Amino acid sequence: MNYRIRGGRALRGEVTVPGAKNSALHLLAASLLTDEPITLRNVPDLRDVRTQLALLEALGKRVEPLGEGAYRIAPGSPLASEAPGELVQKLRASFHVLGPLLARLGEAYVPLPGGDVLGPRPVDLHVGGLQALGAVIEVREGGVCARAPAQKLRPATISLPYPSVGATVHLALTAALVPGTTLIENPAREPEVDDVLAFLSALGAPARRREGRIEVQGQPKLRGAEHRVMPDRICAGTYLLAGAITRGELMVRCRPWHLRPFLDTLQAMGVPLQEFADGVAVRCEDLTLTSLRPVRVETQPYPGFPTDLHPPLTALLSLVPGESRIREGVFEDRFAYAAGLRALGARVRIRGREAIIEGVPRLYGTEVKVERDNRAGAALVLAALAAEGESRVCDEEEQIPRGYHRFAETLRDLGADIVEESLISTRHREEGE
Ligand code: EPZ
Repeated sequence: MNYRIRGGRALRGEVTVPGAKNSALHLLAASLLTDEPITLRNVPDLRDVRTQLALLEALGKRVEPLGEGAYRIAPGSPLASEAPGELVQKLRASFHVLGPLLARLGEAYVPLPGGDVLGPRPVDLHVGGLQALGAVIEVREGGVCARAPAQKLRPATISLPYPSVGATVHLALTAALVPGTTLIENPAREPEVDDVLAFLSALGAPARRREGRIEVQGQPKLRGAEHRVMPDRICAGTYLLAGAITRGELMVRCRPWHLRPFLDTLQAMGVPLQEFADGVAVRCEDLTLTSLRPVRVETQPYPGFPTDLHPPLTALLSLVPGESRIREGVFEDRFAYAAGLRALGARVRIRGREAIIEGVPRLYGTEVKVERDNRAGAALVLAALAAEGESRVCDEEEQIPRGYHRFAETLRDLGADIVEESLISTRHREEGE
């Protein structure tokens, strides 16, 4: 899909962000833990979600869309112990089905994950945690085979050397079906993890944070449950940046406390913000971007500045006078946006794990290519919305729909001049007839 964007239009209106991708994907994996039907609501319509749903069906689950982002997931055929490679290759989060399948069946095989390419993305913390729970792990030709001796895993205290989101979620899911108390030390503190813990508790395995650790009371069997996916804080931050870079007036319905370091950064820049209990508004119609102040940011695990808002923030910083710096403290490589921003006229240099941005007075529309990272795609769209003239954002890898639910339509509803290429060709055909 490509996007044709004519820059210079201020966004105005209100956005209610969809359910959080980085919770929904893990909640879907949790459905493997029980043989009872579960219902998930507010599931975002994303490519990654569709991949995860296809994986659940391939493993034997029956997936029933209920409409309005709700899905009922119930037993179908007997659960398979092997995840199909073509699906796992598309989505890193699908690797997290390994532990639940292992806990259910006593053995499982999952190919090594694919998904966004953000530098080397090992799974050593996942494997180490499963081994602590008693799993025998064999890594063979591009996949991980896990077995539980005598079909049993045992509760454990797992100490994570790094607060990995994926490893924390994967191990909490697995521990929910290991009778006894499992502790995860140095766990990830992202709100999406809390959403998963709440669902595990609803399934019958009490899971909570206590004294800086996660405690899961595993059970021999779990029940069914319903759960509503939390709002997507990364989408919320992306739309706030879209409102700022286009000097618009935008209310974004979200949970502001999930975005504290990000909102503090915008305030430090001088972006006019107003916080409410259920949202944040940017009021930038009287703002000139040249009045904003440069900042230095380092991305860190929650509650630090979120790595997923690094690329979109760089788009705004490219129009802020002075030198800003973003140090990427989570992933080895989160700079896939740099070439595209430079093509639009931004002055962005990458030194090691740091982006150095020299603000320029304006950006100029051109054709740019989305590479490797859905957040880089969002950054290029935001920059194009502020650029003079017409841009084409080419997203052949379909990165943007992986992480952003109806991104172009939402921006168009807010006043942006953005059209999906396929729509353009249709319109040309219609006009031509
Ligand atoms: C989750 O990825 C999110 N994805 C990411 O969102 C997000 O950026 C990231 O957490 C950090 O918040 C989902 O939840 C589906 P990590 P994950 O394990 O679980 C290293 C997006 O755009 N590491 O916390 O992969 C790893 O290499 C995506 O929405 C190990 O070394 O993140 C990385 O440097 C991008 N060994 C760091 O930890 C391991 O076993 C953070 O990874 C696991 C991770």
